[in-house]
Amino acid sequence: MSGVPAVAFERLLIRGGQPLRGRVASSGSKNAALYTLAASLLAPEPVTVRNLPAIADIGQMLGLLGDLGARVEQVGDTARVDASALSETVAPTSRATALRASFLVMGPLLARLGEAACAPPGGDVIGVRPLDVHLAGFRALGATVAREGGAWVARTGAGGLRGTRVFLDYPSVLGTVNVLFAATRARGTTVIVNAAAEPEVAMVAEMLLSMGARIRGHGSQIVEVEGVERLHGTDFTVIPDRIEAGTFLLAAAATGGAVGVEGVVPAHMDGVLTKLAEAGARLEGTETSVSVDSAGGLEAVQLQAVPYPGFPTDLHAPIAAALTQAAGVSIIHERVFDNRLLYVGELRAMGARLTTGGQSVIIEGPTRLSGTPVRALDVRAGAAVVIAALAAEGETEVRGLEHIDRGYQHLVDRLSALGASIERVGAAA
Ligand code: EPU
Repeated sequence: MSGVPAVAFERLLIRGGQPLRGRVASSGSKNAALYTLAASLLAPEPVTVRNLPAIADIGQMLGLLGDLGARVEQVGDTARVDASALSETVAPTSRATALRASFLVMGPLLARLGEAACAPPGGDVIGVRPLDVHLAGFRALGATVAREGGAWVARTGAGGLRGTRVFLDYPSVLGTVNVLFAATRARGTTVIVNAAAEPEVAMVAEMLLSMGARIRGHGSQIVEVEGVERLHGTDFTVIPDRIEAGTFLLAAAATGGAVGVEGVVPAHMDGVLTKLAEAGARLEGTETSVSVDSAGGLEAVQLQAVPYPGFPTDLHAPIAAALTQAAGVSIIHERVFDNRLLYVGELRAMGARLTTGGQSVIIEGPTRLSGTPVRALDVRAGAAVVIAALAAEGETEVRGLEHIDRGYQHLVDRLSALGASIERVGAAA
């Protein structure tokens, strides 16, 4: 058994049919947290980041910062990163391939050391996931970029990076963040056109502002960055995870329950809140909380997963699971990734009536789902099978927990506190 991580033998046992009820506190955003950690490499001074979720990807990212010469300390949900002695320009391939956000060290390394190398990163197999937006952005800023061995290598000339107008072919989230990182230290002004407007991108710009960067327009499709000589340390708190919050709301809706999520920014959640309301769920909220009550059942809805502020691709699979319990024919069109439908086979195995065409899914409901062994095939497909299992009759066994662990902290405890019958067990005897 040596060499096989223990998580490979673990599984969730979920006995469905209980409406979820109660309140749950949201975590810091997984993706935003990863961006803040990469941003900490830009300053030759200590940076403190708070509200980090306890998920596997954060450990990988902190490890990567350490590999590059940063001093990293973590206490609970707070990390202190001191990148004053940043020295290494090459991200180790084992780290690069462990998570998608590893490629975000490229922008900071290029800005600080004039050279950066990273193998094509890992992450969920939800599509081709090219890097052309990142690489074209670095080139536009004056870097040379080449594939050397298994890695992408970017180098600045003697003059360093130069600000310019950078048009992104697609508003890639990580691509925008990488170009933003590089532009903070470029000479002159960079205008990023067709930038990603996701709240996590806007948040990292806020963090960079708190480090002395000059940025305008973040959160919109045109972001202007005036390069500065040097960034300084900061103490920054990660925004709440709108995807995790949406997952809890959808789990509540799928089970006919009533759940409130505390510590969220409802203004970041228009897509999922609008679709829940259209489906007939009752929603209430404050400036920092949202609750859903779906005791009256759900109606079918149609939606498209598109870049922010549209409905998020990361909630496509979770809402598909909830819509198996909605009366009528729901339709979901995936417009961001080209392999988002890994959850479909698993939900079908539980009795869901799903038909696919390209990256679109037709869901006929409501269907009585039954517990059966299923797999989490990526982090959000994992959330979908958990939601389906909570709504199903009988016991569902979920494997592939390494995917769920990448995105959802303390999931078993938090769902148990909402009344779910869920436990995590080890290897089969
Ligand atoms: N794309 C390109 N060229 C590029 C980069 C992306 O064509 O250079 C395309 C992709 O092929 C895809 C689309 O752009 O079709 C969107 O990809 P994007 O680059 O925006 O995604 P990402 O930055 O790789 C982040 C999150 C994802 C989230 C997406 C979209 C991280 C680590 N990942 O990925 O999160 O789905 O933005 O919002 O931040 C997740 O949390 O489960 C997850 C997958």
